[in-house]
Amino acid sequence: MKGKPRYVVCAAWPYINYVPHLGTIIPLLSADVVTRFLRMRGHDVVFVSGSDEHGTPIEVEAVRQGIEPKELTDRNHELVVRLLKEWELSLDSYIRTEHPVHKEFIKRFYKRVYANGYVFERDEELPYCESCGRFLPDRFVEGTCPYCGYERARGDQCEACGRLLDPAKLVNLRCVICGSRPVIRTTRHWFLDLTKLQEAVEEYVRSNERFSDTVRSFSLRMLEEGLRPRSITRDTKWGIEAPFPGAEGKTIYCWFEAVLGYISATIAYFRSKGQPDRWEAFWKDPEARSVFFIGKDNIPFHAILLPALLLASGEGYNLPWDVVSNEFLLWEGEKFSKSRRVGIWIDEALELFPADYWRFVLVALRPELRDSNFTWEQFLEKVNSDLNDTIGNFIHRTLTFIWRYFSGRVPEPGPMGPRDEEALKLLKDAFDQITDELENFRLKSALRSVVELAREGNRYLNEREPWKLVKERPDEARTALYVAAQLVKALSVLLAPFVPSSADRLWSMLGLEGSVHEASWDDALRPLEPGHVIRKPEPLFRKVEKGPEELRAALERLRA
Ligand code: MF3
Ligand code: ZN
Repeated sequence: MKGKPRYVVCAAWPYINYVPHLGTIIPLLSADVVTRFLRMRGHDVVFVSGSDEHGTPIEVEAVRQGIEPKELTDRNHELVVRLLKEWELSLDSYIRTEHPVHKEFIKRFYKRVYANGYVFERDEELPYCESCGRFLPDRFVEGTCPYCGYERARGDQCEACGRLLDPAKLVNLRCVICGSRPVIRTTRHWFLDLTKLQEAVEEYVRSNERFSDTVRSFSLRMLEEGLRPRSITRDTKWGIEAPFPGAEGKTIYCWFEAVLGYISATIAYFRSKGQPDRWEAFWKDPEARSVFFIGKDNIPFHAILLPALLLASGEGYNLPWDVVSNEFLLWEGEKFSKSRRVGIWIDEALELFPADYWRFVLVALRPELRDSNFTWEQFLEKVNSDLNDTIGNFIHRTLTFIWRYFSGRVPEPGPMGPRDEEALKLLKDAFDQITDELENFRLKSALRSVVELAREGNRYLNEREPWKLVKERPDEARTALYVAAQLVKALSVLLAPFVPSSADRLWSMLGLEGSVHEASWDDALRPLEPGHVIRKPEPLFRKVEKGPEELRAALERLRA
C-alpha cells in the first residue's frame, strides 16, 4: 500500500502595501484550516505563503508616502508576520519576495525558461508619464477596460471582468500618481511565449478533475480566447533583475515571480532545517500534492500562468493538484476600500475580538459559490448563537454535570438505550461527513456540520434530562453523561482546525495530555474512558453583549 500523500498547502501572497483586510485573509485562513486538518490526519504537510512586495501596488504606495519601497515593505512585512501569528495561522514558511533564496531561485528559473526557447524579445509601445518621468506599468495606469467597459480598470487586470490587460490597450489612460495623460513610448521587453504552451496547459486544465466549476470555466474561457505572449519584464527599478541577455535595468513582473514563491518558500524552509534537498519531495515527487488557496481574481495566474511556467522550465515540477478559489467578501454591502476606510483590517479585528471568533465567523461566511456579505448582525448571530449558545453551552453543560454530579470523573455508562445508541451513531456519521468535507476543501459545510453536531448534543441532553435522572434513574444519567462526554471530546478535535486555541483549551479542560494539535484526527472517536478525570470547566466562549451599532461605533473609536 502507498503511504499518505505529502501536501504543500499554498496561500496567495498578500500585497504588502498595507496590512491585509478581512477579505484578503480568507485564502490564508482557509489554507490554515486545511493544513491543520491534514497534519492531524498524519500527512506530511508544508504550509507556505509570503509577502508580495514588488508589484506596482507597493511602488505606488511608496511614492505616495515619499519613501523607498524597501522601507515600506520592511516595516509592513514585520508587522504582518506578527499579525499572522496572532491569527494563529500555522505557516511553516512565510517569506517575502525580497528573500535571497527567492531571488536566486527566480533568476535560475528564468534562465532555464529562456534556454528552453520560451522567451523572445520585442519592442513595445507603452504608456510613459512625462511629468513623473517614468513608464507606467500595470497599476500605475488606470483607464477603461477594452473588454467590458469598466471605467476604473487597472493596467494589469480589470476588477470587473477579471481579464488580464495590457496597459496600452486601456481607453482613456491616466497616471495614478499625478493624473496626467501618458504619452506612448517605445521600450524593449522580454515575453513568455504562451502560444507554445497553449496545448499543454489546455491538456492540464481539461484533465484536472479537482478543479471547481469556477476555476475550470474561467480557465477554459481564457484558453478558448487563445493564450497570447505576455511580457515578463518591466521598466521599474523595484523588483528582481531580469536574467536575460540584454535585459539590464529591467525587472521581472511581480506576478511572474511571486507565483513561483511557493517553491522558494519551501526551499527556504528546508534549507533552514538543514535539509536542502527535501523540498523536491513536495514539488517533484509525483505522489505529492500542491493545493493553492486564492481569491477568484488570482485564477488566471494559478490555473494558467503557473502551470505554463512550470512546464516551460522543463524541470519536472508537479502541476497544481488543486486550485481553490473563493469569491469576494463584501463589508456591510460594500467593497473593501482602503482609501474610503470601508472594511476592517486584521490588526483592528483583533483589538475587538479574539482570533478564534473571527476565524469562526469568516469560515462560516466563507464566500464559496458567490460573494458574501459581512455584517455585524451576522457576526453577532454566528458568535452568539452558533459558537456560544450551541457549541459553548453544550460543552459547558456536559462538563459541569460531570464536575458536579460525578466529581469530575467520566461516569461508567449503564446499559445503552436506543436514544444513546442514536447519539453515538450521529457522532460517527458527523465525523465521516466532516472528514469528507474537509478532504474536499468544503470548509463552510464542514464547520456547519460541527455546529450541527453540537446542536444534536444539546438536543440529546434536553431529551435525556440527566439532571432529573441523577436521582430517579442514576444508571441512565451515567449513560447520558458518558455519551455526551464522547461528543465533547470529539468536538475538541473537530474544532481544532477552525478555532485552534479554544479547541486546545477544551482539550486540557478534558484533562487530556499535551495539545489537541498533536492529537490525531481519529482521536475524535477514541472514547474517554469511564473514570477519566476532567479539570474544572470554564466557559469557552463569551456572548457579545453589544449590538451592531455599538460595534460599528467601537470600530470608529479604534480609528480615532
Ligand atoms: N498579491 C496578489 C494579490 O493580492 C497575490 C499574489 S499570489 C502569488 O492579488 F502567488 F503570486 F504570490
Ligand atoms: Zn504621472
